[in-house]
Amino acid sequence: MHTTDNKIGDAEAVAAEAARIASDLARCGWSVSDEFFGAEAREIIDALACEIRTLHLNGLLQPAGIGRGAGAELRPEIRGDFTKWLDEGALSPASAGYRKRMETLRDVLNRELFLGLASLEAHFALYPPGAFYRLHLDRFASSDERAISTTLYLNEDWSEADGGELRLDLPEGRMGILPVRGRLVVFRSDAIRHEVAPSRRERFSLTGWFRRRPVLVI
Ligand code: OGA
Ligand code: MN
Repeated sequence: MHTTDNKIGDAEAVAAEAARIASDLARCGWSVSDEFFGAEAREIIDALACEIRTLHLNGLLQPAGIGRGAGAELRPEIRGDFTKWLDEGALSPASAGYRKRMETLRDVLNRELFLGLASLEAHFALYPPGAFYRLHLDRFASSDERAISTTLYLNEDWSEADGGELRLDLPEGRMGILPVRGRLVVFRSDAIRHEVAPSRRERFSLTGWFRRRPVLVI
């Protein structure tokens, strides 16, 4: 009985936090939440942190390129992270837990902001010590499908001295966000330039983009 009550309480708390993120997005174009993957999602975060470590140790993370598909180029002077896309056909229980919660966020953003978000694409990312990602916008010149960017951080005991902060380039100035474990950052892909400052430790995250359906030109 208690378990059921807790589950209902959790679902309500997750939906309420998603609504807060939606109102931040509407007002400012970005939001930071330490609650959306809060205490009761601890197991998901811990398992995701183990999963990316295992992928890394097995050599399954690939240097990330700039651009899309066959035209993607390796440009370590622009970005130095290593990534692996979530395999939709073989999601681990933790990745499935992540997806499920992100579905709640997608539903709430669609309901509150009429964004018409159709899907989520997501990859694990590792920045080795010294790696960074220069100022950029999360959109390919050829496509406006990416609407909302999200990053969930998986790092234990991160402090300012470790570097690696995400910096959002806002009209009012730069906003630095530390990649602490369980923190979710959400922002408009079309509007907010951002960069990852050089990291002094291995920096782990799971980055996802909510996409709209492509507009068909007939
Ligand atoms: C990206 C990105 C931000 C971060 O992968 O496009 O900007 O904090 N990541 O990892
Ligand atoms: Mn980005």
